[in-house]
Amino acid sequence: MGYVGLCTAAAFVSRSFRTVGIDIDQERTQQIRKGKAPFHEPQLDSMLEKAVKTKMLDATSDISAARETRITFVTVGTPSKSDGSIDLTFLKSAIIDLGRALYGKPGYHLVVVKSTVIPGTTNGIVKPILEHFTKTKVGPKLGLCANPEFLKEGTAINDALHPDKIVIGASDKKSADKITELYELFYRGDLPQVIITSPESAELVKYASNAFLATKISFINTVANIAQQIPGVDVGTIAEAIGLDPRIGGLFLKAGPGYGGSCFHKDLQALINYSRKKGYNPVLFRATEDTNEKQAIRVVNMAEKLLGSLSDKRVAVLGLAFKKDTDDVREAASLRVIGSLKKKGAQVVAYDPMAIPNAKKVFSEQIDYAENSHAALKGADCCIIMTEWDQFRKLKAKDFQAYMKTPNIVDARRIFDPDTFNDLNYVAIGVGHRNA
Ligand code: UGA
Repeated sequence: MGYVGLCTAAAFVSRSFRTVGIDIDQERTQQIRKGKAPFHEPQLDSMLEKAVKTKMLDATSDISAARETRITFVTVGTPSKSDGSIDLTFLKSAIIDLGRALYGKPGYHLVVVKSTVIPGTTNGIVKPILEHFTKTKVGPKLGLCANPEFLKEGTAINDALHPDKIVIGASDKKSADKITELYELFYRGDLPQVIITSPESAELVKYASNAFLATKISFINTVANIAQQIPGVDVGTIAEAIGLDPRIGGLFLKAGPGYGGSCFHKDLQALINYSRKKGYNPVLFRATEDTNEKQAIRVVNMAEKLLGSLSDKRVAVLGLAFKKDTDDVREAASLRVIGSLKKKGAQVVAYDPMAIPNAKKVFSEQIDYAENSHAALKGADCCIIMTEWDQFRKLKAKDFQAYMKTPNIVDARRIFDPDTFNDLNYVAIGVGHRNA
């Protein structure tokens, strides 16, 4: 019942499928039973409330509930080990428990791996464990598919209800037919393109998709860093123009402080590690990651350039979440920026509309937390915009002038029009300033 699991469950319920969410964390399942999401995601709370009221959704820590269903989606986390390789501990233990629960079940059961897993996992790891504990071979009575998920935090529900494709990696024809049947029922006349392939291909589609998106961001950040050296050039214009070429496409070309979130870094590291073990060194993806890591350092260097030195300077960081409309700070660029600011001796005061409780788990008392943007700006020597929250866009040049000690602004998300900040020391990623 993490991000993918709970959003998937809510989407199934909204299309009138009776669903049960299973998680070893009892506190989490109790919260879900009350119709409350354990994390912030637009639309999710209202959907859960309704789902629980109509008794279409239940949540439990008792895996035997899976036996009463016809299809089980496995959506456990697949974090990184310290060397970047994928950690399949949760997946293996979930499959062992599921296998035990399904042992001796009369009738057909389909198991669908939605977790992001490296190629070969569904067939090479999930299948033997499942077959061992169910004492049944994948075939007429037991189905197995890999069916990766492409939803994004912040728009997860909409993404689940309107995906641009469904990728099914089926172990056998019956599994492919059963899951296609399910999605035909789910999407009725609105079924997106379904790609049926091998489990290994489906698993690689997911990594290729995230690697491409991450590379697109590192690409535009590279162009931004060049544009920033040329007075009068703004990377936004470059992105707009190149994005009109359908071979390039205009989405995911927003330059900024580098990508964050629980997926891109983790998945790239897993893919690089996997590929190297297979004897191929994917230098492009290493450059994607390297560029991303260095982008945060560039943000700090921009602040340092404005202030001379960061030592004992008060720096207001507006935004901690890895993107707007989420309380998630996992791998957020703000964490890298704040870490570097602290190393350089700056005093950091941060504000985020939603992510402060999660940021406190990382930084505890090492930084100050403000109650709103104005409070964060008060007395600050520099302000760094780290998340593109709508409320930050409403700030005007006069707000920075009124509250800050000196109005030095580093706009790492490029949310302001540089022309309206002429009287301030304003620099933005990808904008070639007169004083560049
Ligand atoms: C990402 C993918 O977009 C989903 O398709 C995928 O299913 C998901 O990972 C996953 O593997 O679970 P997510 O991490 O929720 O989704 O967030 P994104 O919207 O992709 O943003 C990731 C990061 O890239 C954010 O920090 C965002 O600010 C940054 N970004 C995005 C940019 O810097 N520029 C852009 O143009 C777009």
